[in-house]
Amino acid sequence: MTVDMKDLVALCKRRGFIFPASEIYGGINGFWDYGPLGTELKNNLRDYWWKSMVITPPIGPDGEPVQIVGVDSAIIQNPKAWEASGHVGGFNDPMVDDKKTKSRYRADHLVVYIPKSFDKEDTSDPSFHFPVFDKDTNLEDIEKKFKKLKLPFSVSECIKISMMEMPKYSYKDDYGLQILVGPDVSEPGTLTEPRQFNMMFHSYAGAAAGEENKVYLRPETCAGIFLNYKNVMDSSRVRVPFGIAQIGKAFRNEVTPRNFIFRSREFEQMELEWFCHEDDVPKWFDFWVAQRKTFWNSVGIPMEKLHFLDVPKDELAHYSSRTIDFEYQFPFSGDGFDELEGVAHRGNFDLTQHQEFSGQKMEYIDPDDNTRRYIPHVIEPSCGLTRGVLALLAEAYTIDENRPSGVYMNFTPAMAPKKAAILPLVAKDGMPELATKLYMELREHFPVDLDIKQNIGKRYARQDEIGTPYCFTIDGDTLTDGTVTVRERNTMAQERIPLDNVLAYLKDKL
Ligand code: GAP
Repeated sequence: MTVDMKDLVALCKRRGFIFPASEIYGGINGFWDYGPLGTELKNNLRDYWWKSMVITPPIGPDGEPVQIVGVDSAIIQNPKAWEASGHVGGFNDPMVDDKKTKSRYRADHLVVYIPKSFDKEDTSDPSFHFPVFDKDTNLEDIEKKFKKLKLPFSVSECIKISMMEMPKYSYKDDYGLQILVGPDVSEPGTLTEPRQFNMMFHSYAGAAAGEENKVYLRPETCAGIFLNYKNVMDSSRVRVPFGIAQIGKAFRNEVTPRNFIFRSREFEQMELEWFCHEDDVPKWFDFWVAQRKTFWNSVGIPMEKLHFLDVPKDELAHYSSRTIDFEYQFPFSGDGFDELEGVAHRGNFDLTQHQEFSGQKMEYIDPDDNTRRYIPHVIEPSCGLTRGVLALLAEAYTIDENRPSGVYMNFTPAMAPKKAAILPLVAKDGMPELATKLYMELREHFPVDLDIKQNIGKRYARQDEIGTPYCFTIDGDTLTDGTVTVRERNTMAQERIPLDNVLAYLKDKL
């Protein structure tokens, strides 16, 4: 059953996973705060990634563990770094404004409906109106707008083209602006042509707010890895091939933040830059694609919900000669998929650029043959930590009308914010004391919840909604025979086990 985003967002707020940032002031578009459980969930995914990359890196094709080290670089770097990386000149999205509503859209997210029978010369006739929609607008809303505009053609008689392709269909290769009806208006002629818009947030370092003090917030974490490539090479024992990993915040002034935390203006990334010789690129590219598939599977994202897109050449980022996008079927993706991670071959673009802009040599000198010098190529598995959290939340959301909460979060035990809850049946007769004792024992080993108040049904419902795999209930029998009830989240099956065995039981199950 498809998850309704509204229900997922409501659960996240109700149970303390994610809140709109500055909510008491009406929020701020594209920014989100993580509540107590959202923080735990995000940390679990973050730590699992770090472990799988840096603490226990995978076994390479030669049977030995690969070498990966971590860094934590500054968010603000010397602005020249962003000139070298191409972000100052090129980190642009094509934007369309609506002069009437002042709304702003990404041109590559807008689609124009044009009758199949349409002749290009007709755009010179202003009586033609072509409706423009956000690419995710559902069919029902599109049909409604067709009716409202009294268009002389139906949706099924149209082809759908990207706003970016509009000149191909317009008279004199302009955008046919006079006949386009924007997504939020009913009359034609209010849209502008797409214009480039730099997505980097900027500020000023120091007291003076002049151009010479202008700095940028990093739009991707990998930049700090390339900037420290030489430092890491010189200070640690790594040898090509090796990787540098980083997790942290990135900022993009997205024009249309949307779909909850999917596209936000402040988000977190987990990136690995894998440095290798150009000849070994195909081997390592396949290696990292396979590793990343295993990773997503082991945190609970099944293969059938993933799609692997070999990005067409004309859509690749300026630095990449090959990228495979890992796309997940998010609740808003319909029958399609949206990007969760990209594995890119970045060539040696970044190190070469930094070498040129900084004047510092980025060459690697082979320790076994110092006539062999080269700038390594890079394979980059890059994923959104916060986007990964959204995938975990969407995947876990399980509707079950047979339980009071109507829903439970089917997190894998490793991702679940709480691994177990301890619930005294009533807050008297020595039960809270026993529960507290058990809690004090378990919390040394796992993140566990002690919940004493409210009726037991409500407490189970809460644990179901936060995705706690096991609940241990202390009741009257515990006082007499020393056993507790274990309730398993997904099946709701209950069994009794000795109180003294709870820790061993949990260790075994988790
Ligand atoms: N260093 C390469 C790079 O940054 P990207 O495809 O722009 O590549 C990598 O971003 C990942 O970062 C994406 O696959 C996505 O998971 C995440 N990401 C990018 N923009 C995002 C945004 N506005 N909000 C949330 N996550 C985002």
